[in-house]
Amino acid sequence: MRKKLIAGNWKMNGGLAANQALVQSLLAGLAALRCDVAICAPAPYLAQLQGLLDHSSIFLGAQDVSAHDSGAYTGEVSVTMLREFGVRYAIVGHSERRQYHGESDVVVAAKAQRALAGGVKPIVCVGETLAEREAGKTEEVVKRQLAAVIHTNGHCISEIVVAYEPVWAIGTGKTASPEQAQQVHAVLRAQLKAASAHPERTLILYGGSMNAANAAQLLAQPDIDGGLIGGASLKAADFLTIIAAAG
Ligand code: 13P
Repeated sequence: MRKKLIAGNWKMNGGLAANQALVQSLLAGLAALRCDVAICAPAPYLAQLQGLLDHSSIFLGAQDVSAHDSGAYTGEVSVTMLREFGVRYAIVGHSERRQYHGESDVVVAAKAQRALAGGVKPIVCVGETLAEREAGKTEEVVKRQLAAVIHTNGHCISEIVVAYEPVWAIGTGKTASPEQAQQVHAVLRAQLKAASAHPERTLILYGGSMNAANAAQLLAQPDIDGGLIGGASLKAADFLTIIAAAG
């Protein structure tokens, strides 16, 4: 049985005072945890979050990591830097980075590889756009995106976390139905099985308008091992409800 993971992706939100208030509310409201919980914060707040989450049961995550080790890469943050702030997870290949920052499958695979080599677990995002879904290309797209990461990281592929995030469901309030999500998760699971000696270890999260009202149904699906939560992770009560639904 895989232990579920509920990860909040704060995206480009937050501020020193707001972060402190949110984390304090979360820590005050956490009951005994049966799942893992993480917060993926903007890079400038990692030091603050490291302090706030010290000795807590919430892990720290980043929203991106460089594909390079160090050097002349202005604006990039290396995995070694992330590790210095106690970061355990790094999102890679989020659709917003693929869409607005031109990240290709190859770049995403290189980022995942660098994260793994540096001791940070990549949360690899895959997902189709609405046009791709309507054209019947969902399977083809997510398999292509995951195949690039498997190709580059074959030997340690069971160490990654996968997040299925249909682009049309992100920030739209339109969630994939539990059946729609499960169907894609099963495809991804089969792909991991074919590539990995320990496919049962790999978590496949769902992301895209997961909220306090729909989390339990999504998390009840056999191949949905947790959630990657945007908007609802910024509200303590909602995030706590989702965490409770994973237990
Ligand atoms: P929302 O939960 O706001 O739809 O965002 C999902 C997401 O992109 C998480 O990475």
